[in-house]
Amino acid sequence: MYTFQIDATAPKSELYAELARAADALTSGEPDAVANMANVAALLWEYLPDVNWTGFYRVVDGELVLGPFQGKAACIRIPFGKGVCGTAAQTGETQLVEDVHAFPGHIACDANSASELVVALKRAGQVIAVIDLDSPSLNRFDAEDAKGVELLAGIIAARI
Ligand code: SME
Repeated sequence: MYTFQIDATAPKSELYAELARAADALTSGEPDAVANMANVAALLWEYLPDVNWTGFYRVVDGELVLGPFQGKAACIRIPFGKGVCGTAAQTGETQLVEDVHAFPGHIACDANSASELVVALKRAGQVIAVIDLDSPSLNRFDAEDAKGVELLAGIIAARI
């Protein structure tokens, strides 16, 4: 069993620093990518307030394929350039979407999702996966969330 002293009500910068430490500790020395993604998805699910999906899509043969996650069963394959995840994978840039219904081509996996944050994980300059966070609230994610998830992505990119 793992227990973490993470205060989900702490200011975002503190919360993400704690999550990064926990993710580092959980994945350090563990070479299994699935185990590491599963634990990080669970960590985000447990400690991030107001989210309804936390997880990974991996780049497999030129498209995104569903990875470990928490939340409702989701679409399995997403082409590069499609939806929020496919856009993050194609551009390598973080996608911060205040209102998914206003995002052209958004792929609705859970009808309750209203806003979304997707961060690319890169190895040797190549996108190898994305972290996807969904929220049932509009405008749930801001630049601090983006920075926090990018920090996390940087830590685990070499371990998945
Ligand atoms: N909404 C995403 C698809 C993945 S689900 O949110 C889990 C998208 O538009 O890429």
